[in-house]
Amino acid sequence: MEKSREKFSGKLGFVLACVGAAVGLGNVWMFPYRLGQNGGAAFLIPYFIFVFILGTAGMITEMAFGRTMESGSMTGIRKIFKNKNVKGGKFISLIPTLGLTGTLMFYAIVVGWVLKYFFISLAGGISSINPEKYFNSFAGSGETIIWNGIAIAITLAIVIAGVSKGIERMNKIMMPCLFIIFIILAIRSLTLPGAYRGVQYLLLPRWEKLLEVKTWVMALGQAFFTVSLTGCSLVVYGSYTDEKVDLPSAAIHTAIFDTLAALLAAFVIIPSVFSYGLDPASGPALLFITIPTIFKSMPFGRILSTLFFLSIIFASISSCLVMLEGPVEAAMSERKISRKKASIVISIGCFLLGIPMCINMNLFGKFSDFITIIINPLGVLIVSITFFYIVDADEAMKEINIGAKKSLGNYFIPLIKYGFTLTTIVVIILGVIYGGIG
Ligand code: ALA
Repeated sequence: MEKSREKFSGKLGFVLACVGAAVGLGNVWMFPYRLGQNGGAAFLIPYFIFVFILGTAGMITEMAFGRTMESGSMTGIRKIFKNKNVKGGKFISLIPTLGLTGTLMFYAIVVGWVLKYFFISLAGGISSINPEKYFNSFAGSGETIIWNGIAIAITLAIVIAGVSKGIERMNKIMMPCLFIIFIILAIRSLTLPGAYRGVQYLLLPRWEKLLEVKTWVMALGQAFFTVSLTGCSLVVYGSYTDEKVDLPSAAIHTAIFDTLAALLAAFVIIPSVFSYGLDPASGPALLFITIPTIFKSMPFGRILSTLFFLSIIFASISSCLVMLEGPVEAAMSERKISRKKASIVISIGCFLLGIPMCINMNLFGKFSDFITIIINPLGVLIVSITFFYIVDADEAMKEINIGAKKSLGNYFIPLIKYGFTLTTIVVIILGVIYGGIG
């Protein structure tokens, strides 16, 4: 007899898991400098439009798809293609799940770096390193293989414990801690001498930036990545909810907390960067070079940098959980193997396949671009087309509105069928043209 499907304990557990999936390196690593670079407060306009309209619509679609099919992305798509006699389901259904697995492969490498920086901070080593030299010799070195292994092992330990005992329980601890730490650090950063210049950089709107296509393109890519739209992640979490859960409200809450986390991260990082006279637009180097440079000379730098990297561990590990759960669920339901076996095999596979990327930053860049620019948005497209075109838009709407206190109106159908799917195609094309917008 088939075992009954695992479930989140209720809406809170589900929303916190989705917030965990959404808040991640994208919020801490990309959002702060993009906000500053692309017009400060003016950037928030396209960003809010994309997160709260398209991002939320995409999340609702993915969550409802998983709940309706009571399965993750791969099995759900296969069942529908088979029932509707559409060919190609076996192959097409692989794309979202493989995309999410690929995301874990490169994402966990960066989580490994964060873990290393956490331990250096804890041991008081931040004050004695030259951050730039250190990072340049560390990233791409053999040592990162071990840290990548540790990041995957932590993720594995949580996923193996199951949906409510592992994923939900850990998110219930990590998410509140993350917000508390962010608030403490933001207060510290905002009270540094000269911090107001960073606040100006973030908040003074430079409206002329709205006339540049790039501003809109970056906001769009950021919105898709930050709420974890992949055609697999929120499908699998949605499949662990029941008809009592209000999905539109869960998606809105996820978007609100994700945006709050991104704004808080910006107020942690940018004012201190200005206070110390460093470059706010240093991009990816911001986390591993600029920030350690600040903590190095700040009073109580050791404790503050330990807290900072701990909060990034919470943000990024909670995102890794869904990246592993997606393929684990697929293996469990397609191969009928246990959670334990599926989690171990997939984790080892991701670790081994990640080794070449750990030691070759060029390969790391090419692979992560390929996944985020092409495969993940393609996964998003596959799920929305499967649900709204192959199943049926009215049927999809009915499923979405089950449990919703305030039902979504029929405007949602053209929003997904045309607005969302076309935008997703645009995301792929622009991603290729701009070399990555997510
Ligand atoms: N949504 C996750 C992040 O922002 C993947 O990092």
